[in-house]
Amino acid sequence: MQYLDDVICAWMTNLDNMIPPLIADMKTSTKKNRFDLVTNVDKQIQNQFENFLNEHFPTHYLLGEEKNNQFIHEDIEHLWIMDPIDGTANLVKQQEDYCIILAYFVNGEPSLSYIYDYPRGVLYKAIKGQGAFANGQPLLEPKSLALQDAIVSFNPQVINIETVQMLLASSFSYRLIGACGLDSIRVIKGQFGAHVNTNPKPWDIAAQFLFAEELGLKMTNLTGQPINHLQAGPFIISNPSCHQEVLDILNSHGGYQK
Ligand code: IPD
Ligand code: CA
Ligand code: CA
Repeated sequence: MQYLDDVICAWMTNLDNMIPPLIADMKTSTKKNRFDLVTNVDKQIQNQFENFLNEHFPTHYLLGEEKNNQFIHEDIEHLWIMDPIDGTANLVKQQEDYCIILAYFVNGEPSLSYIYDYPRGVLYKAIKGQGAFANGQPLLEPKSLALQDAIVSFNPQVINIETVQMLLASSFSYRLIGACGLDSIRVIKGQFGAHVNTNPKPWDIAAQFLFAEELGLKMTNLTGQPINHLQAGPFIISNPSCHQEVLDILNSHGGYQK
């Protein structure tokens, strides 16, 4: 596992040379609707990683946002899940607050996780059984955060208004960065109490499984059950001290939409 981590960290370092010219010549197009954006940056990063895997680890498979994933199934031994740019709208509109998400599963078990906050130059990683790190420095388990003292993060466009008001009234405050990986990092670092996404895809939440496991956080669906990494669906990553309270609120007062 150490060899694999070294190789992946080296690949991530290469992104520092690869991304600036791509951004300088950024081309944006839409997918399902006018808010669903993709750029040459997303496509090139994923292509490069796929080529890298094919060359160095030909028995490994990739599930990625910008590719056809029809041959991905539960029984794959070595599986990587990648969101080449998480927060593409932020990249296009703000050139800030986006990240690269990458996670490695061995027989379905989360084994290595990376969230690269490229604009800030911070590589977060988690290694099974060894903990989590930010640019090589160990991350500590976040301190216990009661909901009334916690900042919570969610998308108010897909949560019913009574539920939003209840969340605001019960917590300290609200913030949304708009990149699932970076909103999750705030929980991982103990800055937010919880981040909720009512309809993420596997690549939005792939890395969070191992960070949660290594740092004593809760990561479940919105009824408190485990999430399947290939199916994803409604998701919360939370400080253990406010997890149940956030779920109780989300499931009362009309709840949320997927
Ligand atoms: C999106 C972002 C956003 C979240 C969406 C994701 P993308 O990812 O993480 O914060 O609310 O559910 O799809 O499209 O920028 O990779
Ligand atoms: Ca994403
Ligand atoms: Ca993406």
